[in-house]
Amino acid sequence: MTAPRPDTARTAAAATLGGHTAGQLLRLSRVAGLSEADSQIYARTLVEALGPVAHRPLDLPPPDDSFLSDDHTPVEFSLSFEPGRAPTLRVLLEPGAGAAGPARNGATGLRVLRELAGRWGVTTDRLDELEDLFFPPSPEGPLALWCALELRPGGVPRVKAYLNPAANGPEHAAKTVRKALKRLGHRKAFTALPDGDRHLFFALDLGDWDEPRVKVYLAHHDVPAAQVGGLSRMEGGPDPAEIEEFLRAATGPETGADGLRGDDGPRPRLVRRPLQTCHAFTDTAAGLPSGFTLYVPVRDHAPHDGEALARATELLRRYGMDPAPLLPAVAAVTSRQPEDGVGLVAYLGLAHQHGRPPRIMTYLSSEAYEVRPPAVTAPAEATVGR
Ligand code: TRP
Repeated sequence: MTAPRPDTARTAAAATLGGHTAGQLLRLSRVAGLSEADSQIYARTLVEALGPVAHRPLDLPPPDDSFLSDDHTPVEFSLSFEPGRAPTLRVLLEPGAGAAGPARNGATGLRVLRELAGRWGVTTDRLDELEDLFFPPSPEGPLALWCALELRPGGVPRVKAYLNPAANGPEHAAKTVRKALKRLGHRKAFTALPDGDRHLFFALDLGDWDEPRVKVYLAHHDVPAAQVGGLSRMEGGPDPAEIEEFLRAATGPETGADGLRGDDGPRPRLVRRPLQTCHAFTDTAAGLPSGFTLYVPVRDHAPHDGEALARATELLRRYGMDPAPLLPAVAAVTSRQPEDGVGLVAYLGLAHQHGRPPRIMTYLSSEAYEVRPPAVTAPAEATVGR
């Protein structure tokens, strides 16, 4: 018999969904400069929020076909970078993962979110006001409720709830968003939104935010790169050229001037995920959004994560943000080499919000179940467009 490997204990603990993701969170917390005590609190919170699926052995398949991540892990991490400070760690999770059907998934999500909010003295008033719109008896669509926690120092996170505009059927998504905005007092907000192909998420900041936002996420298929900068509706928002530059840097040299799809880039087999934009409303009187975010699914535009990370690093530098935490963050979630897969870096985002410096977000997949293999590019093809 061979001697047990020194990391056996850790491996055994990590061999459940909760153990795996809590371990990732603990290691990421250190990278983000959180105290040991805060990190422990947040790791425990994650396990509690996941509920019974936290104990699910990792050698079983994912609890369900969660849309939260490509391999259906109901957890995703992200780092939000700003100039001059350590990045903020956030975790997105699906508290109803593994529930028997979307109605129960939503009910579990609501129960868990209210429980956590109660613990932190956070009111869920605005969510409660919308319950009938987003939680019908037989909900449809790709999610029921997700929750994101911004893990700030002190052990009490900021909370965000993500709801599904297509809960009453995709054909009613726009109407659901319009009603929800109106109910929250944003009477003019719906007409301020740009055209998009789909209303993907409706999100609420809950609790201790300086200016809690109501956010509407839109998907944009086939939008020409030159038009993406024009999707912001913020007054005094970003220069369209800046948004286009970010997009081109994030997607790499394959992005044609005329669009993001239909070319013969390194992933011709796949239909790429759409770009997403988020429009944040804070002032009910203003009518126009006070924030604009672009999300680029970098994993569909890069052969492997090494390339995605190189682009993230370059963008962070351009914006005067220190990229140093990025590689340690990657090492905190995986022991594989970035070049050995694609999708660890799921999205790169650029956020503009009134009164704040621009932020860059890097979304890091847990990959609890699967790593997507890198795209195989023949040497001749690899040079195309360079
Ligand atoms: N997995 C989904 C997607 O890829 C939803 C999602 C998870 C998402 N994290 C995200 C969307 C970050 C935008 C940004 O679309």
